[in-house]
Amino acid sequence: MDLWLSKGHVVDGLWVGSFRPEAKPAIRRILPAKRSPGIGMPYLMRTPALEELPALSALCFRSKAIWGYDDDFMEMCRRELSFDALELRSTSIVVAEEHGKIVGVAQVKVVGKEADLLKLFVEPSALSGGVGRALLAWAAAKVASLGADKLVIEADPDAAPFYRRMGAEDCGVVPSGSIAGRLLPKLVMDLSLPSRTPLPSPSSS
Ligand SMILES: CC(C)(COP(=O)(O)OP(=O)(O)OC[C@H]1O[C@@H](n2cnc3c(N)ncnc32)[C@H](O)[C@@H]1OP(=O)(O)O)[C@@H](O)C(=O)NCCC(=O)NCCS
Repeated sequence: MDLWLSKGHVVDGLWVGSFRPEAKPAIRRILPAKRSPGIGMPYLMRTPALEELPALSALCFRSKAIWGYDDDFMEMCRRELSFDALELRSTSIVVAEEHGKIVGVAQVKVVGKEADLLKLFVEPSALSGGVGRALLAWAAAKVASLGADKLVIEADPDAAPFYRRMGAEDCGVVPSGSIAGRLLPKLVMDLSLPSRTPLPSPSSS
């Protein structure tokens, strides 16, 4: 079921949009998700359809390219930036929609008590409007509902400050899955512990 994000929303029976007293501290920290600026319309969060996956892969590619990588680098990343049909079953995927347009996508996979954030990409025209925060809030709540107490993030170096801002902590580096010899920051969001630096809610900033 999909509901709007303005006063909180439910995706697959999961509340991710606003404060809920019994929510785990790390999830509470990210919530409430921001509205889009200006117009005040909420994001709709929903599972994508099979036929939307190629467009979502293209969104990830466009989004990654905002950091200024050259064409060769981007081509080497293409596989990692693409969705496979089987992933609709083996992972959890959500899109954020605004005015009927997809403005971001996230993908998580849970293995035991740990979960991986496989993708989190915002449409370049929608950057800095709270879509990333909304998607990460969904990711944290989704994996917690599936039994994970940690969300592991292998971040693009330019995106790492965003995850730190959202409460994730550095946990070393990992080799890139696309570029031989490249190391990426590894961050972990502990879903069971309160943050040392609580994230201010959008309304207080
Ligand atoms: C990183 C990314 C997901 C952030 O999404 P976004 O929608 O622009 O971020 P939001 O508007 O939700 O920002 C939430 C907060 O994080 C901060 N923030 C966002 N991106 C940041 C960055 N790169 N560095 C530092 N802070 C950042 C915002 O200022 C905001 O702070 P606030 O709490 O003071 O309001 C987006 O830049 C993106 O898709 N980048 C390209 C693809 C990519 O690298 N994805 C990550 C793959 S690991």
